[in-house]
Amino acid sequence: MQVPLLDLKQQYLTLREQIRAEVDQIMDSQMFIGGPKVEAFEKAVCAYTGAGHAVGVTSGTDALLISLMALEVKAGDAVITTPYTFFATAGSIARVGAAAVFIDIDPQTYNISVPALRRYLEGCKKNAQGELISHAGQTIRAIMPVHLYGLCCDMDGVLELAAQYKLPVIEDAAQALGAEYPGKKGKGSAGAMGDFGCYSFFPSKNLGAFGDGGMVVCRDAAMADKLRALRNHGGERRYFHKMVGGNFRLDALQAAVLAIKLPHLDTWSARRRTNAALYHEAFAKAGLASTVTLPAEPYAASGLTNHHIFNQFIVRVPRRDALCDYLAQEKVGHAIYYPLPLHLQECFANLGYKEGDFPEAERAAKETLALPIFPELTPEQIHAVVASIAAFYK
Ligand SMILES: Cc1ncc(COP(=O)(O)O)c(C=O)c1O
Repeated sequence: MQVPLLDLKQQYLTLREQIRAEVDQIMDSQMFIGGPKVEAFEKAVCAYTGAGHAVGVTSGTDALLISLMALEVKAGDAVITTPYTFFATAGSIARVGAAAVFIDIDPQTYNISVPALRRYLEGCKKNAQGELISHAGQTIRAIMPVHLYGLCCDMDGVLELAAQYKLPVIEDAAQALGAEYPGKKGKGSAGAMGDFGCYSFFPSKNLGAFGDGGMVVCRDAAMADKLRALRNHGGERRYFHKMVGGNFRLDALQAAVLAIKLPHLDTWSARRRTNAALYHEAFAKAGLASTVTLPAEPYAASGLTNHHIFNQFIVRVPRRDALCDYLAQEKVGHAIYYPLPLHLQECFANLGYKEGDFPEAERAAKETLALPIFPELTPEQIHAVVASIAAFYK
């Protein structure tokens, strides 16, 4: 049986009429940039996540970039993040001229390792102004943790260290809108726990637009005003610019589509969890429980519904590349996220990292692959995926 990695058409068909009516209305109004559709969607995301303020932008990448711009991170500065993430996380840091400081990941969750982060921070010195200085001599300006694959990282640990070292936290929640975290101070929503939270509405995300789209949420009203100005070339008043921003505006069409989809997000994420549970059963039945390492669900016992939202379903396997070749032959959808950790990317050679610096990120890049998990995946398709994998290891 052929199984696609992702099938967006089925979901679209369930909302087709509603979306078309809304798109028609926008076409008739000819109001494409900003306006009430964007504002309504921003409010809806605030209500959904509990965030104070939301600013719709062009993409998840630009959400990260504009957050760094709002903090005025610049050349000579450094931002701490993980080397095992989509390129945009560290790419945004480089684009403001700063250096990424990488910290290895936890091998179970693939998210930033808090003990490794603590060790790194303990090794930093302060300058005469009391600023924290990276081991390479830059001024550390922020921590940018990622909630990878739809699972929140250890935010209690990150926030405790951020408070201790007085660093703002920009959550890269591009893959995690709606994911919940059982924090010591109560439930947290991915993106709404730090100072800034960045979402992507790339079509393959749990909440996907009909093109690119993104959003920044933040706590502070003044920061939200600054973000709004930055997304519009930095001008608070038209044609008068105190700062240089860019064109980072979210289209009304995208906002309208996303606003229609948002009320369904929890149902879709629940189906992804059901599919994950079916994989667990099927792999156990196939006798592969000790061969294939399934995604950790560290918050499953917390009682939170969205303890994992499975934007991707990542398994760790022996002979990964040979398995991928076999699955390609069997027409079973799969993908490798991410084959080369960011500290080993050619464009970051200037940062001075080398192979062996982050063993867990490097191991994850060699041993993991994503299997289909989209909400409309059927139990038959899941069994076909597992049967193919079982045939490979037979
Ligand atoms: C972890 C992470 N950060 C940032 C981004 C960038 O988002 P976008 O593709 O909307 O620019 C993505 C999207 O793939 C992502 O997965």
